Amino acid sequence: MNHQTLVVARILHVVGVVVWIGGVFFVTAVILPYVKARRAEDPVGLFESIEGQFSKYAKISVALTGFSGIYMIDVMSLWSRFSDVRFWWMHAMVLIWLVFSVILLIVEPVLRRKMERNGMTIPAEQFLRVSSRVHVLLLGLSMLTIAGAVAGSHGWLL
Ligand code: HEM
Repeated sequence: MNHQTLVVARILHVVGVVVWIGGVFFVTAVILPYVKARRAEDPVGLFESIEGQFSKYAKISVALTGFSGIYMIDVMSLWSRFSDVRFWWMHAMVLIWLVFSVILLIVEPVLRRKMERNGMTIPAEQFLRVSSRVHVLLLGLSMLTIAGAVAGSHGWLL
């Protein structure tokens, strides 16, 4: 195993996490409150057009984080960690990754297509309320995972 390649994978992993979870933080803490406070004519459209700009970066960074993570597990032979609860943060990383991938690649596009086809709209207030709650929950779980992963990878096992 080439040690430098492993370091590069770790760098790409952390850069992916920074872009991705940083983007989730910005959407949750800045864009959603802004859209709620602005009382625009079409708040859902406004939110989607801003968040839509982030969507491609989210897809690239989620892919980068996932590939580099699996590469590290494989090269360092870390699969056995998944049967040890002290490595809960390994399970958490994979879980967070799966949840975001399913939302980005399946839930969002399928919902959007279905609504467009049936000419449906969601009441703006309900959309912003649900969207805020989902973002706060996922952001909180992501931050906890980051804390656990940094502490755990550097030897602090609970
Ligand atoms: C398929 C998904 C993922 C896999 C397979 C994966 C795998 C890994 C592996 C193997 C490590 C190195 C562990 C060690 O050195 O002992 C690591 C580190 C790390 N991962 Fe992940 N990960 C994934 C997703 C995530 C996600 C979603 C986050 C953030 C929410 C994340 C944040 C981190 C952080 C912060 C580190 C610590 C880097 C360091 O301090 O050196 N990972 N990950």
